[in-house]
Amino acid sequence: MASIGVFDSGVGGLSILDEALQQLPSYDYIYFADSANAPYGEKSAQWIATRSLQICNYLSEAGCDAIVVACNTATAEAIAAIRSELNIPIIGVEPGIKPAAMQTQNRVVGVLATEATLKSDKFNALLATLPEDCQFIKQAGAGLVPLIEAGQIDTPEMHALLRNHLRPMQEQGADTLVLGCTHYPFLKKIIRGIVGDSITLIDTSDAVVRQLARQLNQREIVAPLKEHPSTLRLLSTANADTLQAMAKRLLHSDLSKLRIETKTVQTE
Ligand code: DGL
Repeated sequence: MASIGVFDSGVGGLSILDEALQQLPSYDYIYFADSANAPYGEKSAQWIATRSLQICNYLSEAGCDAIVVACNTATAEAIAAIRSELNIPIIGVEPGIKPAAMQTQNRVVGVLATEATLKSDKFNALLATLPEDCQFIKQAGAGLVPLIEAGQIDTPEMHALLRNHLRPMQEQGADTLVLGCTHYPFLKKIIRGIVGDSITLIDTSDAVVRQLARQLNQREIVAPLKEHPSTLRLLSTANADTLQAMAKRLLHSDLSKLRIETKTVQTE
């Protein structure tokens, strides 16, 4: 049975899984949350690269036919190494600064991402290809991921932290805001409440899953029609029951249509 691995430092990649379940519902999925080690965004490039490769090897050995590195930070530091090691489609996630540069009217774009993503060579190389008349206000979302991982999403602490992170880009008049971390789509409602309706929010989950679909097509990785429901295996290095509870809370997809299995795993 064709199975797709989706990996993130924690629950952030659920925003990509949600889109995948809607666009490609016939596949089986293995979601891997490295929650024991989240956040990745404040770790060294070397650590992120080694750990991401280790997890993708694990998913490949578990039988995945394709893997979505559903983490901007891991994509920035590890996608090249993962692709050279594994001979299956590896789809990454990058902050949508390119679509933002095309959509902004006033040429001022805010980018909210992890510190590691903003510092990475991959991100800065992409930035260097974009028109010079476009100003990017980069902001590291320090503290956001730990709060989301703890399920503290609509809390006064989260609102205060976000107001603080978004202030510089608001002050400089950004009309477009890139959500450069897969955890952040879960904050959309709160972000909207702070920045208002006139700012365009850029979230690339839909484009990432369309890219996954193209790769599956090209490699003829098909999900045959089956009588049984698709399986979603939720793996966490911290606590798989917590991951399942978060999936029920955060996903819009109808989980009752899936066969769900959970497991707390160690990969060391
Ligand atoms: N969700 C991740 C990303 O897209 C990583 C967040 C983190 O662990 O710091 O960058």
